[in-house]
Amino acid sequence: MQITRYNVRECRIKDKLLACDGFILASPNYIFSVSAQMKALFDRCNGLIHCMALEGKYAAVVETSGGGDDEEVISYMERFVNTLGARSVGGVGSPAAGVRTFPDEADLFGRAQELGRELCRSIAGQRRYPEQDEFIQNFRGRMAGLIDVMKEYWPFEREQWEKKRT
Ligand SMILES: Cc1cc2nc3c(=O)[nH]c(=O)nc-3n(C[C@H](O)[C@H](O)[C@H](O)COP(=O)(O)O)c2cc1C
Repeated sequence: MQITRYNVRECRIKDKLLACDGFILASPNYIFSVSAQMKALFDRCNGLIHCMALEGKYAAVVETSGGGDDEEVISYMERFVNTLGARSVGGVGSPAAGVRTFPDEADLFGRAQELGRELCRSIAGQRRYPEQDEFIQNFRGRMAGLIDVMKEYWPFEREQWEKKRT
């Protein structure tokens, strides 16, 4: 097995994330969290997180649930976005998706469309989100410290951080 970039094997999703300006994460609420498939993606992104490789990019988050607790899952996905260095423009969650009923469907789809527009506007205007920017800044310090400690073992990550600093 050859470990290549960002400590993960070839992964098409990762390459698309590195190439894009913005992305949308979508998951059902499975036991107050994301689906196992989405969590597998998160776990495979640890190299990207160590390098905060998506700094400057934007994301939107979509979630569905059977009964609710949408905010918990949306917040978790948004936190993941921030640990990559990217900013979240917001999230839309839909309860009652499990039984295929969408109360206030027009409102829900309207909010989803607006979220998409917000994603485009944020990319175009490089919008700032002060609360997230503070988190990202603090997390940046934490990751830079980690890479410093691990520099002997993680030459690829060290190189990425050297490039970031220049
Ligand atoms: C394994 C599993 C766990 C689930 N856990 C929750 C939950 O904790 N809270 C909730 O409101 N809905 C839960 N649901 C309902 C799903 O969120 C809902 O069915 C889904 O959002 C609708 O899309 P789908 O049926 O196409 O997967 C769960 C569904 C499954 C299959």
